[in-house]
Amino acid sequence: MKYTLSVIKADIGGYVGHSSSHPDILADAEKSLGKAKKSGLLIDYHVTRCGDDLQLIMTHEKGESHKHVHKLAWDTFVSGTQVAKKLGLYGAGQDLLADAFSGNVKGMGPGVAEMEIEERKSEPVIIFMADKTSAGGWNMPLYKMFADPFNTIGLVIAPNMHKGFTFEVHDVMKSMKVMFKTPDEIYDMLVFIGAPGRYCVKAVYSRETGNIAAVSSTQKLALIAGRYVGKDDPVCIVRSQGEFPAVGEVLEPFAFPHLVEGWMRGSHHGPMMPTSIAQSNPSRFDGPPRVVAAGFQLSNGKLVGPRDMFDDPSFDEARRKANEAGEYMRRHGPFEPHRLPLEEMEYTTMPQVMEKLKGRFKKLE
Ligand code: F6R
Ligand code: MG
Ligand code: MG
Repeated sequence: MKYTLSVIKADIGGYVGHSSSHPDILADAEKSLGKAKKSGLLIDYHVTRCGDDLQLIMTHEKGESHKHVHKLAWDTFVSGTQVAKKLGLYGAGQDLLADAFSGNVKGMGPGVAEMEIEERKSEPVIIFMADKTSAGGWNMPLYKMFADPFNTIGLVIAPNMHKGFTFEVHDVMKSMKVMFKTPDEIYDMLVFIGAPGRYCVKAVYSRETGNIAAVSSTQKLALIAGRYVGKDDPVCIVRSQGEFPAVGEVLEPFAFPHLVEGWMRGSHHGPMMPTSIAQSNPSRFDGPPRVVAAGFQLSNGKLVGPRDMFDDPSFDEARRKANEAGEYMRRHGPFEPHRLPLEEMEYTTMPQVMEKLKGRFKKLE
């Protein structure tokens, strides 16, 4: 049977500031998706959060980009915004960039990752959700999962993975896409995905079967709105086991808290810290950036789970390293490379300061 797994997310109000989500927002979303399940639009759903982002995880038989599923998500965010407004939550409706729904939430602010799949006999999936960062934050972990034998031994010794994977990479500035076959083209691909501010891994496919292995959200809020409106706080769905990396190979890249953009005012680099969902409350200097992982077994489209995958002491060391790296970065204060380069900051006083100092810049002799 074919099922679609849709993860649609938005920040519709933070509690307190941008640090977390209020339980009433989750309860409101729960009600709305519960109704949609009763009506038959959804097979199943799970409402959760990462930091201040509300996450709607839904299964159905309607295919990707389906109008009714997207409208359900949009209406849920609009309803949650009302709750956020009543509670005076911070930035109520922040990610809803359009006034009215027009067929698809893409380009309207919310982040979307969806895949239609032929469900296997047993279908383990991991849904990664991040706060205080952007979609390029998945580039290094996805590379390690699907192309690095030092992370994924299955690439070397599992006959159904040995052919490797195909990566779909998007240029989010120019709205272009390019496919790379790995391992053959890893050097070419790394030229691009090593620059995650512009090139993002959108999807990964098995070269053995052609089946989709992973899909991420690549919407860039600032590009949609034409001005700084917060970081994208992306999501990523990864299928596991069999022709895909094992659960442990899928989680392993997060044992290294790599540096990503998005900390404080979306304008600082900091380590991506893997935590349990309960601990995804970025509070120190509005961070450091978080990643959570919800694991499910799909069963006839039903979401059996979640298991909170980073709620495991074997990730304590990654959290400790993230705190250490975070502290090291923080000591740079307003200096790069903690602060993002000027052209990537968007959130800046540069034009005002330049205007004020206009007459004071003199040509060098
Ligand atoms: C970073 C983030 C926060 C806010 C900061 C200022 O992605 O969400 O660090 O940028 O708290 O928030 P505003 O501008 O909403 O007052
Ligand atoms: Mg927020
Ligand atoms: Mg957020």
